[in-house]
Amino acid sequence: MASSVHERMKETAALGTEIPETGWAYQDGVFKRLADAHVSLATHALNYGTGVFEGIRAYWNATQEQLYVFRLREHFERMRDNCRLLRIELPGDNAMLSEVTLELLRKNEFRTDVYIRPLAYKAARSIKVALHDLRSGFGMFAFPIGAYLPTSGLAARTATWRRTADDAIPARGKLTGAYINTALAVDEAHDFEADEAIFLTADGHVSEGGGANIFMVRDGALITPPVTDDILEGITRDSILQIAAELGILVGERQIDRTELYVADEVFFCGTGAQVAPCVKIDGRVVGDGQIGPVAKKIGEVYFGIAHGDDQAHPEWRTAVYR
Ligand SMILES: Cc1ncc(COP(=O)(O)O)c(C=O)c1O
Repeated sequence: MASSVHERMKETAALGTEIPETGWAYQDGVFKRLADAHVSLATHALNYGTGVFEGIRAYWNATQEQLYVFRLREHFERMRDNCRLLRIELPGDNAMLSEVTLELLRKNEFRTDVYIRPLAYKAARSIKVALHDLRSGFGMFAFPIGAYLPTSGLAARTATWRRTADDAIPARGKLTGAYINTALAVDEAHDFEADEAIFLTADGHVSEGGGANIFMVRDGALITPPVTDDILEGITRDSILQIAAELGILVGERQIDRTELYVADEVFFCGTGAQVAPCVKIDGRVVGDGQIGPVAKKIGEVYFGIAHGDDQAHPEWRTAVYR
């Protein structure tokens, strides 16, 4: 059974503290301290949520004395696609953005697991609510991080807030303003002693978590909603689909009913922040036998092994920071 929400929150306690401003950041071509990276109060993105962001993890391998960025190329590929939605210009190609990321990590001399936040946004000081002819800005910061969601078996709650539909605010976009939808849903989950929200689409199918994709195990098959059900097209989701297939697990992408989660053998969330976070309770009902299931456990182990570089599989997913 899930422990109390207060006990589980200890795993993610550091998230409640503010990010230190002493570390190096990057803004519009210049490395500077985070304390010196500013935007104007009149910035379009601050007023209207017109930004695109990414969340990337780098894992420290103490034995190899190496920091590995996980799927760096794919994060900037997705960011470039998403910037097209908001007509935001990135300051360089993906090779340049990757090099800035590695340089930022080296300047900070991180020897721990870190989270990297690239942010592209409408930087113009303008109140014009449109997307054309508005100057773009780009920044990046990074900081040490542990778990974003508890990984010891969390409780989830179906949100009364529906996932924003693709024809309203596209969830695939990782758009800054769209995360109000997540904030409302996760806040509601917390009010009900749950750790994470489960979004339904406008037509009532399971979409994803507040800040993570969702998988269930039914009759031995690993199933996740399709990319057309208002999800962020998660890079961890993609990694897990590949890992599961390599482990010989039957995988499928199809619509999921809310009540299928209640009768599933296993449910887990996944994401850059969430990593692999098993869910043992949904809407007050115990999932499976209330313990972390064998599929989530195995996939979590393989994922962590590959991401940390202890497992040599998928070298193309890791970028070493230190030479
Ligand atoms: C809403 C949402 N869904 C899914 C994910 C997972 O995506 P990824 O695995 O690319 O981090 C995230 C971010 O982690 C997210 O914010």
